[in-house]
Amino acid sequence: MGAPCVLAIESSCDETACAVVEGYRVRSSVVASQADIHGQFGGVVPEVASRQHLLAVVPVVHEALARAGHGDLTDVDALAVTEGPGLVGALLVGLQMARGLATATGLPLHGIHHMEGHLFSVFLEDDEREPPVFAPHVALLVSGGHSELVRVDGLGEYRVLGATRDDAVGEAYDKVAKLLGLGYPGGPAIEKLAAEGDPGAHAFPRAMAQQDNLDFSFSGLKTAVAVHIERSGAPQSRAQLANVCASFQAAIVDVLVLKARRALQREATNRLHVVGGVAANAGLRAAMRRAAHDDGFSLEIPPLRYCGDNAAMIAAAAVARIRAGWSPGSELHASLRIDDRRVRRP
Ligand code: KG4
Ligand code: ZN
Repeated sequence: MGAPCVLAIESSCDETACAVVEGYRVRSSVVASQADIHGQFGGVVPEVASRQHLLAVVPVVHEALARAGHGDLTDVDALAVTEGPGLVGALLVGLQMARGLATATGLPLHGIHHMEGHLFSVFLEDDEREPPVFAPHVALLVSGGHSELVRVDGLGEYRVLGATRDDAVGEAYDKVAKLLGLGYPGGPAIEKLAAEGDPGAHAFPRAMAQQDNLDFSFSGLKTAVAVHIERSGAPQSRAQLANVCASFQAAIVDVLVLKARRALQREATNRLHVVGGVAANAGLRAAMRRAAHDDGFSLEIPPLRYCGDNAAMIAAAAVARIRAGWSPGSELHASLRIDDRRVRRP
């Protein structure tokens, strides 16, 4: 068999996505975002998300097949779907669509852990680029639901080195954006303003920076911004707003860089991958590049289009499994840690 061709579906949160990936080469990647709809409510409303997935999933699969130049599934070798973690009602829509396709075609269906999908986002190719070495490396997973440092020793060989004790980084961005009246999702809005502001304007806390561990905590930072607004009033000008955003982002980026450096030292590896929705952040990307240059470690960050949720990364994780000769398990699990032994399913 040549490079395996996988059609994958992702519906864990507020993006309905489908992709066709051959080897690690992306043939098509379609992402229908619901952000505008949830923005009206200030955050993701689970029931609304499920309903939107139901409306979008069939057209999104059709479009992914059409853009890949396939009218149907005859050139596809396997199917993949995000099994979890995520909003259960949202996951169910992708899952049932994938199960239906598997039943109709007889194709094998691989259930993929959402965060394992993010790990594989650095391998996706749109051009002739050589994929990076997979293992060993330390991955910093930063998204709306997760913030963790994971040691990766091979396919299915994941050890969580540290994780957030409370809010995820993306969640902190979203909550602070709400406090500042910047709407949902908060990351891109804060990033834009942060670029105009002074990161030294406000001394927001770097939680757990002094503690000799690889864990994070971001809820105190959110409270610090809330207290600042309570004491000084809401920012009155764009410049004031930009200063709050820049100072908030600096506190986040400082801690992420510090803990990633510490993880590389402890794990005696010089390869860092930064993945997840927050990996799209220009301030974080630049700070990580500086650290990589100063410390001499190699750094992989996916292109912007593969940082946020997409199905191409889910397909890529399935490609790795197929190449390793793993057959799909008979069960799918909506809620597992990435280092749960059931994620490793030969
Ligand atoms: O990986 P992702 O698309 O979905 C989850 O798995 O959660 O991550 C979404 C999160 C949101 O919280 C969003 O605000 C954040 O990623 N995000 C950003 C940026 N773009 C998206 N955070 C900071 N800077 C960005 N440019
Ligand atoms: Zn994600």
